[in-house]
Formats: sequence, structure tokens, C-alpha cells
Amino acid sequence: MTHEHSEFYGNDSKAAPAFATAVLAGLSKQQKTLPCEFFYDARGSELFEAITALPEYYPTRTETAILTQYAPEIAAGTPPGAILVEFGSGSSVKTEILLRALKGLSAYVPVDVSSSALALARDRLIRHFPDLRVHGVEGDFRAGLTLPVELSGKPRLGFFPGSTIGNFTPIKAARLLQVFARNLGHGARLIIGVDLLKDEGRLVSAYDDAAGVTAAFNLNLLERANRELGADFDIAGFGHKAIFNRSLGRIEMHLVSRTRQSVTVLGRSFAFGPGETIHTENSHKYTVAGFYNLTRGAGWIPTRVWTDADDLFSVHELVLKA
Ligand code: AVJ
Repeated sequence: MTHEHSEFYGNDSKAAPAFATAVLAGLSKQQKTLPCEFFYDARGSELFEAITALPEYYPTRTETAILTQYAPEIAAGTPPGAILVEFGSGSSVKTEILLRALKGLSAYVPVDVSSSALALARDRLIRHFPDLRVHGVEGDFRAGLTLPVELSGKPRLGFFPGSTIGNFTPIKAARLLQVFARNLGHGARLIIGVDLLKDEGRLVSAYDDAAGVTAAFNLNLLERANRELGADFDIAGFGHKAIFNRSLGRIEMHLVSRTRQSVTVLGRSFAFGPGETIHTENSHKYTVAGFYNLTRGAGWIPTRVWTDADDLFSVHELVLKA
């Protein structure tokens, strides 16, 4: 199994109670929800890989092209002996682009909830970069981070690609950037990938592709609840919907109940009306200026930005005052 390009992996076995809690809480709300972090079980990670190769899904290939083209510029200014900390590293595929341009790093510190993803990435990176010290940290990038003492005092470069920041509402995104600031410390830099606001048609088709891969990815949440929690979702009874919420600047994914039906999960029954939805994901889109404002509000200084010729995607450099 390969996990090329995913920003999220995981949810190894200890996630099972967390998934149960999230499903029961999410289905109890007025607007039913299921959190997008649970998309990425083994099947979901496979489907996400397939999404990244779809003609409609521009973000992965565009970000990869930006990183490849500008890697020398992005790497310039990284002091010798710095450590590279990646939040939600998954397969660390995009990281290799930076690692080829960054010379003299003390260590690469991938942070991920999935120990299996960390182990796979580590094996490959050690082969590709025999001199690189890889110090994986198993954990949630939304939490505090403890680095080994030998690495304290080294200059820090953070990396958060994939527009994963878009999964957070702007308020939560600002809080996450503050957590990164605390974890990286004064004088740190952060390289972060952010999907750009663009015409609605292009956005919607990226999340509702002709081959139905994104639909399968969305529906896998229900299949996962059936597999792991013994839920009885009738998968054919739900459809996939992607809408652009213009006022909130985001793509929303929903699962739409085709009929009046009820579903039992862990002994609790949940009723669905026809057309009622489960909101499964937000993917916020920013203008460059809008993202500058978000980062400034979180205490970062936006210093440089790289985009593709069609302005589909952006890679920002943010700095923390020393
Ligand atoms: C991995 C969060 C960047 O929001 O574009 C892809 C996930 N969802 N298709 C995104 C996703 C539906 C993706 N991120």
C-alpha cells in the first residue's frame, strides 16, 4: 500500500473510541456532522491518493509544481543546523522536494498520528537521504510538541503543505497557527500551502469529479462506521454533494439522505429526513491578502508567497519575530 501525497494518515487502532465518540456526537447535532479527520483510514487514504491524480483535483499537482520550481528560493535563508518540523507529515512525499534543496539540516521531525505512516516514511527517507537524521513524533499536530533536548536551540523551519489549513474555520486556523508558533518558537519560519479562491465551477468540480472518486471518499465515512462501529448505514441511501459556500469562502462536502430513514449506531438510533445532510468537510479557500490577514492575527509575519501561473494555489512563508 502506498500513501503518496496524503497529508492525513492514519487513525491507527487507538482512534476507534475517538471515532465512536465523534460519530455519536456528530449525528446528535441539529445539522449532523462527521469530522473530516476520520476520512483517512486505509481505504480512505487509498481513495485520497486517487483523488490527487484526478484531472479535476488541481491542488496536489499544483502545489508540487510550485514547491519543485521554487525549492531553491524556499530553502534559501534556512540557517545551517536548522530542523525541519512537518505537521501531519503522512508519507512525507512533498517533503522530499524541500529536503533536496535544504542543505545541512540537523534533523527532520515529522509529526503524525499514524505510527505506520511515520515508519514507512522514515524507511524511504533514510534510503533517499542517508545523512539525514529523522526523528518522528507520533501525535496530533493540533497539540503541543516535545522535541528531544539535543534539538533544542536549533533554528526551526515548519512545513504544513496540502492546504490542510483549509479544513479549519478561520478562527480555528488562527488558533492552529498560534499552536505552531508556540511549538516552533521565536525566529521560526513556516512554509504553508493554501488553496486559492477561484471560480465556483472549478472549485465544485474539484470536489465532485466525473469519475465519482470523491463521492466514494465521502461515502467511505459511512462504510467505516459500518465496519468499525457496526453501524447499519444503507450506503446506497446516501448521495455525495459538494457546494461552494460563497459567504464563508469554502467548499462544503455533505452526504445527503435520499429518503426518510433511520440508522442505528452503537445502540442509538438516528432519524434522517429526505434531503437531510451530514456535513463532512469544509475546505476554506483564501485570497493571498485574506491569508495574510489570518496569519497576522495569529502573530506571524507573512514574508514571501509563491503561486502558479494560473493562481490556483499558494505557498506562503511566514516568520515569527526573534
Ligand atoms: C487534504 C484537506 C487538502 O480539502 O482539498 C479532497 C481533502 N476532500 N477532496 C481538500 C479533500 C475532498 C483535501 N485536503
